[in-house]
Amino acid sequence: MIIMKKGTVTGLLFTMVLTLISGSAWAASFDVAFPPHMTYIEQDTVAIVLKFDKDTLDNVKIKLDNFEYPDIAVPSGRENFCFAINLKPGMNTISVTGLKNKNTIGTKDIELFFRSDLRVEFKKAPKEFKRYLYHKDENEAGCKKCHNLEPTLNDLNPAKPENSPCYSCHKSKVDFKNVHVPAEAWKCLDCHGLKKGEQKYAVTKPIVKTCYPCHGIKVSEWQGQKMMHGPTAVGMCNVCHDPHGSDWPGLTRMFATDLCLNCHQGFDTGKHVIAGFFGKGHPTRGVPDPFVKEKEFSCAGCHNPHGSYSNKFLKFENTSVSTFCINCHKK
Ligand code: HEC
Ligand code: HEC
Ligand code: HEC
Ligand code: HEC
Ligand code: HEC
Ligand code: HEC
Ligand code: HEC
Ligand code: HEC
Repeated sequence: MIIMKKGTVTGLLFTMVLTLISGSAWAASFDVAFPPHMTYIEQDTVAIVLKFDKDTLDNVKIKLDNFEYPDIAVPSGRENFCFAINLKPGMNTISVTGLKNKNTIGTKDIELFFRSDLRVEFKKAPKEFKRYLYHKDENEAGCKKCHNLEPTLNDLNPAKPENSPCYSCHKSKVDFKNVHVPAEAWKCLDCHGLKKGEQKYAVTKPIVKTCYPCHGIKVSEWQGQKMMHGPTAVGMCNVCHDPHGSDWPGLTRMFATDLCLNCHQGFDTGKHVIAGFFGKGHPTRGVPDPFVKEKEFSCAGCHNPHGSYSNKFLKFENTSVSTFCINCHKK
């Protein structure tokens, strides 16, 4: 009995101390409106939207696991503040601390899982994590006074990026060395549907149907070949490609050799091609591509990741060593 009573008092005290530390007893409220805690998404960036009473914050500190971002200044007179951060595949613990005159107003921790079909170990989100989809009426309601959330068919082809109804929130979507042509023109609605009734801005699935209107000839060519590569055959073009842009050639999500290694571990030794003296294999990176100057040689130098007439998705006939190797090693 006594122990229980003591426990209750300590518990109560503890709660009061916590309340004092977090400052919520007298300071005005500070909250992370988005993303919701314990949810998962399928992209490598997320927008953080803070809600607070006017002038209660002047800076925010963001910690992603153990990495601390430089403090971000909050413009004065605002009740909302929005910014985007990068995520790593798998679990991300985002800690957001609100500051006023260098004093902590409050800290909120959000666990967000980045699920990816490409990273075998992060293919599944933990089962208590729900899919976070932002574009729903109840989520958009609080944002409409500052952002345009009612695009029309007139927005299909904006004269400049700033005119796109997606620009104010998604401007970082095209922050790449190579931007996909329709995304560069902010013709987002070429691929993202405007139809009501379904998930807003959903693309047609399987994803290859979204690519078909512009790459149909290529896709039918691959479909007509002897063999089609697994992920291409099921129409999951976006497993390997980011349809918005990329820092690598061919809009791949990472350097082509690294891309393949997600699903085919160990092949980068090149020993499956040759195993010469001391077991040295064929290069799979770090040398120039014989066909395209200024491009780094990769697995895609020998294999076509979509399909091929030859076996093992090889780009050239492979009936004998000489017919294959001679394409790059002329003697
Ligand atoms: C009071 C006006 C206001 C409200 C309300 C508002 N925003 Fe913003 N938002 C802005 C402004 C202004 C910017 C440009 C960056 C800045 O100064 O904060 C912005 C930028 C953004 C960005 C881009 C961030 C980046 O770094 O690329 C996102 C995403 C965003 N807002 C989402 C939202 C969402 C979601 C809501 C509703 C929960 C919302 N905003 C509500 C004014 C607002
Ligand atoms: C008010 C800001 C805002 C505007 C305007 C906006 N988005 Fe978003 N959108 C978000 C946020 C926040 C997310 C959640 C993911 C994130 O944080 O990046 C999101 C997610 C998405 C998603 C993933 C599915 C989902 O619902 O979460 C798609 C697709 C998308 N937006 C497309 C668009 C397109 C296309 C436009 C322009 C027609 C647009 N968005 C305009 C804020 C906005
Ligand atoms: C060539 C087609 C295409 C264009 C153009 C395009 N998108 Fe996408 N977008 C996609 C596909 C495919 C997905 C993945 C959808 C899925 O998996 O459900 C996607 C997903 C997204 C997402 C969710 C996060 C992610 O990366 O998976 C956002 C946000 C988004 N697009 C915004 C935009 C904006 C903003 C534009 C205009 C600058 C744009 N998109 C242009 C095809 C496109
Ligand atoms: C509205 C038209 C349009 C749609 C839809 C479209 N693309 Fe493209 N894409 C282009 C154009 C234009 C180019 C540049 C010319 C070319 O290479 O054909 C291009 C180029 C590419 C390239 C090559 C880039 C390079 O640097 O070699 C890839 C990869 C690509 N698209 C993937 C996709 C994928 C994946 C989809 C579906 C999710 C898709 N595209 C949907 C118009 C489109
Ligand atoms: C998302 C996972 C994934 C990625 C990424 C991937 N592959 Fe594959 N690959 C598969 C699957 C699944 C199969 C087996 C089904 C099939 O043969 O199409 C396969 C089969 C193959 C085969 C034939 C193997 C055999 O025994 O016949 C080759 C060769 C190959 N992939 C090369 C590549 C190359 C090169 C890349 C990078 C450009 C790559 N793959 C990227 C999933 C992937
Ligand atoms: C297994 C990964 C993978 C999948 C799945 C995949 N691609 Fe590719 N794709 C690549 C790689 C790697 C390159 C070449 C990059 C390079 O040259 O370095 C490429 C190049 C391209 C190109 C430009 C060169 C060319 O061959 O025309 C287009 C267009 C393209 N892909 C479209 C698609 C479409 C559409 C789909 C879905 C049907 C798809 N890809 C599926 C990995 C993939
Ligand atoms: C110099 C050309 C060349 C390069 C570069 C290359 N491969 Fe291969 N790959 C081949 C040849 C040739 C075969 C067929 C071997 C055979 O028939 O026994 C093959 C076969 C394969 C197979 C099927 C293996 C099996 O057991 O049937 C896979 C998977 C594969 N390669 C993946 C890759 C990956 C991933 C990379 C990059 C890390 C890569 N290759 C780079 C030439 C190459
Ligand atoms: C698609 C082009 C391509 C094909 C096909 C190809 N190679 Fe290569 N190979 C290269 C490139 C690129 C290099 C690097 C040359 C350099 O150092 O600049 C290379 C290097 C080599 C080396 C030297 C390795 C080293 O570390 O110095 C050997 C040996 C070799 N290849 C053997 C073969 C054999 C055997 C085949 C056939 C089974 C073959 N290659 C098929 C592109 C190719």
